[in-house]
Amino acid sequence: MRPGLEMPMGMALGLGLVCVAMAAPVQLTVQVDRPGAVIAPTLWGIFFEDINLGADGGLYAELVKNRGFEFPDPMMGWFMLRTSHGRGEVRILSEAPFDPANARYARIESRAPTPMGLSNEGFRGMGLRGGEDYDLSLQVRRVSGNPRLLIELVDELGQTLAEARLADLPSDWQRRAVSLRPRDTTARGRLNVLVEGGGTVDVDMVSLFPRRTWKGRPGGLRADLVQMLADLKPGFLRFPGGCIVEGSELDKRYQWKTTIGPVEQRRLLINRWNYEFKHRPTPDYYQSFGLGFFEYFQLAKDLGAEPLPILNCGMACQFNSGELVPMDQLEPYIQDALDLIEFANGPVTSPWGARRAALGHPEPFGLKYLGIGNEQWGPQYLERYAAFARVLKARHPEITLVSSAGPSPDDERFDFLWPRLVEMKAEIVDQHCYANPIWFFSSVDRFDRYDPSGPKVFFGEYAAQSDRIVSVHNRNNWECALAEAAFMTGMERNAAVVVMSAYAPLFGHADGWQWRPNLIWFDNLRVFGTPNYYVQQAFAQNRGDRVLPVRLEGPIAAPALARGGIGLGTYRTTAEFKDLIVRRGHEVLYRADFSKRPEGWRWPAEGRWDVSDGLLRQTDVRSITTAAVGGPDWTDYTLELKARKTGGAEGFLIVFRDAWQGTRIQWNLGGWGNTRHGIQSWLGGQEKLVTQTPGSIETDRWYDIRVELRGPRVDCYLDGQQIHSVEVPVPVQDGFYATAAWEEATGQVILKLVNAAPFDRLVALQLAGVRSVRPGSRGILLRGETLADENDFEHPTRVAPRDWPVQIAGPTADLSVPPHALLVVRVPVER
Ligand code: AHR
Repeated sequence: MRPGLEMPMGMALGLGLVCVAMAAPVQLTVQVDRPGAVIAPTLWGIFFEDINLGADGGLYAELVKNRGFEFPDPMMGWFMLRTSHGRGEVRILSEAPFDPANARYARIESRAPTPMGLSNEGFRGMGLRGGEDYDLSLQVRRVSGNPRLLIELVDELGQTLAEARLADLPSDWQRRAVSLRPRDTTARGRLNVLVEGGGTVDVDMVSLFPRRTWKGRPGGLRADLVQMLADLKPGFLRFPGGCIVEGSELDKRYQWKTTIGPVEQRRLLINRWNYEFKHRPTPDYYQSFGLGFFEYFQLAKDLGAEPLPILNCGMACQFNSGELVPMDQLEPYIQDALDLIEFANGPVTSPWGARRAALGHPEPFGLKYLGIGNEQWGPQYLERYAAFARVLKARHPEITLVSSAGPSPDDERFDFLWPRLVEMKAEIVDQHCYANPIWFFSSVDRFDRYDPSGPKVFFGEYAAQSDRIVSVHNRNNWECALAEAAFMTGMERNAAVVVMSAYAPLFGHADGWQWRPNLIWFDNLRVFGTPNYYVQQAFAQNRGDRVLPVRLEGPIAAPALARGGIGLGTYRTTAEFKDLIVRRGHEVLYRADFSKRPEGWRWPAEGRWDVSDGLLRQTDVRSITTAAVGGPDWTDYTLELKARKTGGAEGFLIVFRDAWQGTRIQWNLGGWGNTRHGIQSWLGGQEKLVTQTPGSIETDRWYDIRVELRGPRVDCYLDGQQIHSVEVPVPVQDGFYATAAWEEATGQVILKLVNAAPFDRLVALQLAGVRSVRPGSRGILLRGETLADENDFEHPTRVAPRDWPVQIAGPTADLSVPPHALLVVRVPVER
């Protein structure tokens, strides 16, 4: 029986809770008298990574890009500004810098009284607010003449918004500061640093911060963005990544020790997301580490969130180089982890505790969790994790370790890691999932089958995607948010297993993103929460302390249909196909005529598909390609065809139940280097290996292929011989999902109800074990007018929580949950 959820046998057909009866009520019984698992205060948290200009250009409020001229192109972000009357030049030098750790500086040589110098473009411009104060500081040295520095804030047209002058410039390096108050607001301002009066001046660490930062800390974080985080009431803060922990190569990995201390000494590093992502180049993306590990711990404390630092485990990003540290050279990496624990928790008398105290925080930060590696997989990860765990658990049994389960929740990498991590008694395992909404709706019961005595789950990165995974077209629409809400009910019901979770990524700069969707969008002046943000907030602000078992009864009807078209494909192989027919009983759904290029097919960009001699041919041996036809309403059919391999490494890909949102099944004949036949399924873009058996495909031999589909059942025949007979679960649609929690402090029952159907759901509620209901029940509704609804800068709360009337006078009551909605209901009760 699913934890926290009871359903009479015989009422549930197929997967999950598929309710298709239109207006018939669902009976929802909540066992208020039988509180179950404790809901971890860390269940709903946040994951911050410097992606999409999340830190530099985002949370870290510095407005100057490349302030120390340390980018590989030292003038990146800067340009020389000289009027027609100005004469002179700007050079980048490194002799006698103000700090050898920040070797380069700019020399402005002005040979005329007219101002000339440098202009900085900021991060896609600088956001400047009229009437607010901005603090400029820089290192400066006068080399010749007796010039002044003219500091200007200008708008995108170059009009001056504020100016200040620095005179009496020192002949040796000195930090100088001045404040400016722009008279107008611009999102695309610039900073000019000009030499006035003729002469030569060296400048470095040119920095501009708004005075108004989070908690007014000089050189701090953007207040409006941190406020968005605070409003989420996060239980933990995972940091700093993500792939940036790993780096594309090991020497580009994140190293926490280089991120503390004076900002000018923090070693600049190329950002892992500084690459061309689908024609969105970000060559100017570097990590200044102004938001480093000290600021991170401070932020977690401000937010009341448990810190969860993630450390490199001796592996570079496996989507890039996958570079590995040899096992006998892992010691410095493990030492970094030990030192981080000391930095966070050690007494001020310890070396790293003393560093923390020197930075202004003598009290320990109370670190309890540590992540070993980000999104690692394979045996290489397990042996590195084991080496870390051996040392860390011996020295710091009080620290709970978080290990990786790879990048996907169901694929072969996951299937390899999970049982081994169970065997190794891993404490918390981090699962990641980016998938289409259908995956989330269909996986609400994912954790129902987990053993609560095994490793706990951190669902550490997830987001529903409206398009293909990692596509620039993904949207933060209400459908995606609703799917996440449904999935979150499953996490809460299984609080005995799931102890942490986080949406990802957290931030996206509207003019500088590499990835979407993101939880919070911002530009240089504005910020808004997505529908997904408000879902996270609704769960986090209404978490509760103990899970209450819920029982759902009602007219639960047939699952969504096992449906979809077919496809033919090859994997680095050439092949021919003929005699293709799709039948349902005696009805012919489709018969292919390959005497000419058939109509209605979806031809992929990859591969070379053509038709001749009554055959369909794929003749590009390098490609991985599938051509598809039919659906979406084809159900319970038999697909027959003949196929012949003509060259290459593998066999054929036969696709069926090819439906919407990345959901299909593939019979891979002669896959895995022509060693095996197997069934692979994709649910919302997430791959799963359903079954495999040894087998290969010969070249130049015609094979008879038959696939029979009946509901979830799949039977595959090769030359009349059955190769596979399996059930592939059918995706869930239009479901109804419920979870309930008990909140000790208020004596309230908190219901979270998700109606994924396009019709009102009537709910007959029974609060079992409740003597009476106190006045003050409250409903909070979240829904879009349409599933495509999004928030944006102009309509930041188009999808946002609003009060929803509920009448609950006693232990039984009727509720109505609108179509496509998340309804949170708080009921004060006497037990
Ligand atoms: O959240 C974006 C990226 O997704 C993270 O950096 C990585 O861990 C995952 O692949």
